[in-house]
Amino acid sequence: MPIPTTSSVSSLVHPLGEFPPDSIVFGKSEAMQSLRSRMDKVASANVPVLINGESGTGKDIVARMIHGLSPWKSGPFVKVNCPAIPGTLLESELFGYEKGAFTGAYGMKPGRVEMAHRGTLFLDEISELDLALQSKLLQLLQDGQFCRIGAQEDKKVEVRIVCATNRQLDVEIENGTFRQDLYYRINVVNLRMPPLRERRGDIDALVQYFLEYYNRKYNCRARMLSSELMGTLQKYHWPGNIRELENLIKRYVILGSEDVISNDLVTRDEQEFFNPDINLDGPISLKALTRKATRELERKIILKVLQAHHWNRKQAARTLSISYRALLYKIRDAGLPPNRSTRRREAPVGAGIAAD
Ligand SMILES: Nc1ncnc2c1ncn2[C@@H]1O[C@H](COP(=O)(O)OP(=O)(O)OP(=O)(O)O)[C@@H](O)[C@H]1O
Ligand SMILES: [Mg+2]
Repeated sequence: MPIPTTSSVSSLVHPLGEFPPDSIVFGKSEAMQSLRSRMDKVASANVPVLINGESGTGKDIVARMIHGLSPWKSGPFVKVNCPAIPGTLLESELFGYEKGAFTGAYGMKPGRVEMAHRGTLFLDEISELDLALQSKLLQLLQDGQFCRIGAQEDKKVEVRIVCATNRQLDVEIENGTFRQDLYYRINVVNLRMPPLRERRGDIDALVQYFLEYYNRKYNCRARMLSSELMGTLQKYHWPGNIRELENLIKRYVILGSEDVISNDLVTRDEQEFFNPDINLDGPISLKALTRKATRELERKIILKVLQAHHWNRKQAARTLSISYRALLYKIRDAGLPPNRSTRRREAPVGAGIAAD
């Protein structure tokens, strides 16, 4: 799908240059399939859409797809990254100003709302708008009217509004930082982007896609990851979602070594280890969680010691103060590769495999 027409007001070119194929963007999971059918239905109707999801789940891509499928697809797609614009400037960026509206307003300037006429206005991280701007936006949603700063009269604009957030707006409403009436206006249709850990069945296809893409882009010939590393990717928690996976594969293609990314994952996992992601929607088992965490910690310690000893298992067993046989058992039990050679397809020149 070609990238939709963009406006000059912000950098709108997707890092991939064009959208990945639908089969990659939506994959096979039920959650993404239903998201896709909701997106298809809503795209042709000019109603506001709220896209919810963690960072890196594809909110930007979906906002652009909605635009690309809308009747105004040949119109502008104007993105406003709300947190990136200081609060005081945001009002003039969004709504524009008249000459002399404030000191330094030497000429009139249209805002992004106006620039998005007959197109899509994408408000990213909408929860960052302050309450005064929220009420101006509410007016725009109610009657399509807004007022440039310093203007005597309202202006009318036809625009489709798509908002995105990675916050829970109902909590912001309870805290008094987000207007409930605005929430109802922007949330006519809600699209929830599932985090990558809820669509693990798509990881293999995403890896394959990014590998081919970055091999082509950087003129490299990195091979498919080993099945051991693919297994690790399947178990990983992916706090940065698809963006994190994409960056990982990009690094692998450029650096050409699986060690770089498996070490990265171990370090990131460790940072998160003491911050477990616990879903409190239902009952949790302290015993099961602790057992899982202990096994995970043991796996990481063994992996680290093996790496430190260049996969020499006898030395690793001595360092860990366990028998060689116990280490072999634990390596198997933890799903770690039995020796270094199976972890890498392409050993760099001079990298020998340590003998036991
Ligand atoms: N479904 C997907 N298929 C393929 N690539 C994806 C998908 N979702 C995200 N990506 C990749 O991950 C990167 C991040 O996606 P995107 O910018 O859409 O996430 P986001 O939800 O808007 O994140 P943030 O909240 O940080 O702005 C994109 O550059 C894209 O390359
Ligand atoms: Mg985004």
